[in-house]
Amino acid sequence: MPEEHRLKQSLSWPHLVALGVGAIVGTGILTLIGVGAGKAGPAVILSFAIAGLICACAALAYAEVATMIPASGSAYTYSYVVFGEMIAWMIGVALILEYTLVVSAVAVGWSGYAAGFLESVGLGLPQALIQGPELGGVVNVPAIFIIVVVAGLLMAGTRESATLNAILVVIKLAALALFIVVAMSAFNADHFQPFMPYGFPRSGPAGSEVGVMAAAAIIFFAFYGFDAIATAAEEAKNPSRDLAIGIVGSMALCVLIYMVVAAAAIGAVAPAGFADSPEPLALILREIGQPWAAQILGVSAVIALPTVILAFFYGQSRIFFTVARDGLLPGSLARVSSRGTPVRITIFTAIVTSIFAGLIPLDAIAALANAGTLAAFVAVCAAMLVLRRREPDRERRFRTPVAPLVGGAGILGCIYLFISLPTQTQLLFFAAQGIGLLLYFIYGHRAADRARVTRSSPIGEVAAHRADGGASAR
Ligand code: ALA
Repeated sequence: MPEEHRLKQSLSWPHLVALGVGAIVGTGILTLIGVGAGKAGPAVILSFAIAGLICACAALAYAEVATMIPASGSAYTYSYVVFGEMIAWMIGVALILEYTLVVSAVAVGWSGYAAGFLESVGLGLPQALIQGPELGGVVNVPAIFIIVVVAGLLMAGTRESATLNAILVVIKLAALALFIVVAMSAFNADHFQPFMPYGFPRSGPAGSEVGVMAAAAIIFFAFYGFDAIATAAEEAKNPSRDLAIGIVGSMALCVLIYMVVAAAAIGAVAPAGFADSPEPLALILREIGQPWAAQILGVSAVIALPTVILAFFYGQSRIFFTVARDGLLPGSLARVSSRGTPVRITIFTAIVTSIFAGLIPLDAIAALANAGTLAAFVAVCAAMLVLRRREPDRERRFRTPVAPLVGGAGILGCIYLFISLPTQTQLLFFAAQGIGLLLYFIYGHRAADRARVTRSSPIGEVAAHRADGGASAR
């Protein structure tokens, strides 16, 4: 591979677990837990369990496929190898939707905490500058600010950013541990009755769907992020071992933390008391008479939420990088700087995510991000199952246990979550795919043909491997 197209191999598994937890714990548990509690009541704990279980199935499939195909690009690359260029393009569109919107959503969440903090020290910003037009403002300036800061960190070099990320992850986990301990001191089992006031499947008129699954479809946002690790594959020192530990380890850790946080939150304050809050965990701490703890939690969120933006930004710029390197986006975007980072794509990503973060409300962004993620997860579970049939004897450094069951549950679970999303979100997702396919037929597949003739990349190698039926690897 030409040197200018090779990413620096600087990450080992502790970096990857930190990158994973950095990506997973964020706005989902800090903010969307309130939305979930409003939709499902105390049964939001069940919603967390369902979303977590489905994610765990996808995480296992990811770990297997990622260690077989250790190349940047995540589900896009796996789809390219297993299903071919057109499906890969569709999954690329889903991933770009996911990563762009997560960066934007978490930047908006960060902006809420940052604005609240500034307000509390007498430096409040005018409403027009902290919200987009739909909520009565003009543009969300703090959200754009944090995106620019994170873009700068990434352009300074992967390794420095990953180390800083690890420090901030510790702050975030310490804040959640503080929440659990303090909230548990006010635990009241009565808050769990009635447990499932709004039923199980999605119900209610379009736009205001309630029930355990409607809540699971939204708070699903809180669980994903481990796939950001898979996008770092080309930069891992020992991809086969490090990726499996990074993905499965960070996923299991987060499922555990969320279940405990949800139980502690509801034990302290009944769901109706924090359902609509933009900062539900801090509100709960204030409600039980612990404002000092609420303040520590708020400041920690402001300091640590950028880790989520960082991880997804990192994944986003590398997906753009890989798609561009394959010729499906302009090749000049795929150039790597002397520090081993794709600078042009990082700037391009910063501009696109800033536009969304500056103008659109959090819940709308998060729901659409979920749709993109679910599509990518279906593709990865399917890729894992297809590769098991197509190349049963090929070496696998990590094997998904009871693969047909886990892969099948991952696919069906993600589809169930997708149909539990608001109807408007589903329509927007299909509209984005329609536009994506149009671009593919007008531009993408011809450009990819040209790129195939001139480049040699890991994807080229695995694509060739696919073309010869895997014979060269046996
Ligand atoms: N899981 C990430 C969050 O909760 C996206 O913010």
